[in-house]
Amino acid sequence: MKKDSDEFIIRNANENDIPEVMEVNMRSLPENYWYGFYKFVLDRWGDIFLVAELNRKIIGYIMNRIEDTRDPVLYGKENELSNNKEKKKGFDDIMSSLKNVFSDSHKVGHVISIAVLQEYRKKGIGTALLKEAISKMKSLYNTEAVYLEVRVTNYDAISLYKKMGFEEVRIIKEYYRDGEDAYVMVKKL
Ligand SMILES: CC(C)(COP(=O)(O)OP(=O)(O)OC[C@H]1O[C@@H](n2cnc3c(N)ncnc32)[C@H](O)[C@@H]1OP(=O)(O)O)[C@@H](O)C(=O)NCCC(=O)NCCS
Repeated sequence: MKKDSDEFIIRNANENDIPEVMEVNMRSLPENYWYGFYKFVLDRWGDIFLVAELNRKIIGYIMNRIEDTRDPVLYGKENELSNNKEKKKGFDDIMSSLKNVFSDSHKVGHVISIAVLQEYRKKGIGTALLKEAISKMKSLYNTEAVYLEVRVTNYDAISLYKKMGFEEVRIIKEYYRDGEDAYVMVKKL
């Protein structure tokens, strides 16, 4: 029997995987979802819903959706955090934000949730899930960027995202139920 954690595989999720994915989610994150939500995401974006499997056991997953946005921050035009916060909105800024409202929408990938069971972390599984998902979002949907929200104190996850080329572009105050803020992190493709 294969015992080596290097032997994990990344594959598309299917409906039978949902209970195990829910288990990984509940053991890893305070943000949990009901069965029907997983089913909805799977039916709609199953080609970018991936699981990591080891010896037929699901040890990680990544669940994503594709969105249209006119938000310049999300497709990489601006970074609110690096902008001068003191800057007053001048005429040019107002005109350019109006232009954005009317400009074409852009396709972006949104990582809804990613987790790896505690005992299998730090072996490259999270990286492999994210890499494969990003590559599929680009090749199947031609997304211009991928974004996600992450707790400002989730240092493990933030460090992984930074290594993968994501940048913090925005803070959403009290995004989580317990009041913690989220960074929005974006990787331009
Ligand atoms: C975030 C999460 C998915 C990362 O999964 P992971 O499988 O541990 O990710 P990786 O192993 O690819 O990378 C994590 C770290 O291990 C390191 N690593 C990867 N392979 C390694 C190996 N063979 N040996 C030692 N370290 C290794 C990576 O370099 C990375 O290091 P860093 O933290 O210093 O940047 C995981 O920590 C998790 O499930 N957390 C709880 C749920 C969560 O917070 N999800 C994110 C919500 S936004």
